[in-house]
Amino acid sequence: MNAPAGTLTLRRMTAADIDAVHALDERSFTNPWPRKSFEFELNENEASRQWVAELDGALAGVIVVWLLGDEAHIATIAVQPEWRGRGIAARLLCVALQALAAEGAVTAALEVRAGNEAALRLYRKFGFVEVGRRKGYYQDNGEDALLMDLTGLEPARLAELCPEAVR
Ligand SMILES: CC(C)(COP(=O)(O)OP(=O)(O)OC[C@H]1O[C@@H](n2cnc3c(N)ncnc32)[C@H](O)[C@@H]1OP(=O)(O)O)[C@@H](O)C(=O)NCCC(=O)NCCS
Repeated sequence: MNAPAGTLTLRRMTAADIDAVHALDERSFTNPWPRKSFEFELNENEASRQWVAELDGALAGVIVVWLLGDEAHIATIAVQPEWRGRGIAARLLCVALQALAAEGAVTAALEVRAGNEAALRLYRKFGFVEVGRRKGYYQDNGEDALLMDLTGLEPARLAELCPEAVR
C-alpha cells in the first residue's frame, strides 16, 4: 500500500471539523448524514468515537465508530475521492479498532452495500467476514446490505495489520 504524499495526521474529530466532514460525507454517499448527525456524534452520543485524517492540514478522511458493549461498530468511514487508494481508510480503521480494543471491544461489526467493492476489499483485508444479508435494505436503489463481523480484535493481529500505529 502506498503512503500518501504529504504529511498524514490522524486525530480525534472536533467541532471545527464538522463542516468539512459533512462536505466529505456529501461527496462520498448517495444518502449522506445530515450535518446535525455529526454534531450529535461529537457532543451527545456517548458510545461514539470519531477520528479524522488530515493531509497537509486539509481534511482527507473520517471514521465514526460506536462502542456497543464489547463490539466496535463502524458507523461511517469515508476518504476524499482524490485521495483514495493511498491507505488512508486503512489507517483510520487501524486507529479506531486499536483504540476501541483498548477500551474493551473484542469484536467489530458493520453494514456495507453489497456492491461497494472498494469497501468490501478494505474490510476483508482486515479479516471481516460476511455474517448476514439484509435484502433490499437501501431504499434509494434497493441494494442489499451485507453484515460483516471481525472477531478477535487481538492487539497482536491489529499490530500486524497496522505496523505504523505501534512504532
Ligand atoms: C471505501 C473507502 C473508505 C476506502 O478508502 P481508501 O482510503 O481509498 O482505502 P485504502 O487506500 O486504505 O485501501 C485499503 C484497502 O482497501 C481496498 N480498496 C480500497 N479501495 C479500493 C478500490 N477502489 N478497489 C479495490 N480495492 C480497494 C484494497 O484492498 C486496499 O488495500 P491495498 O491498497 O493494500 O490493495 C473509500 O473508497 C470511500 O470513501 N468510499 C466512499 C464511502 C464509502 O463507501 N465508505 C464505506 C461505507 S461502508
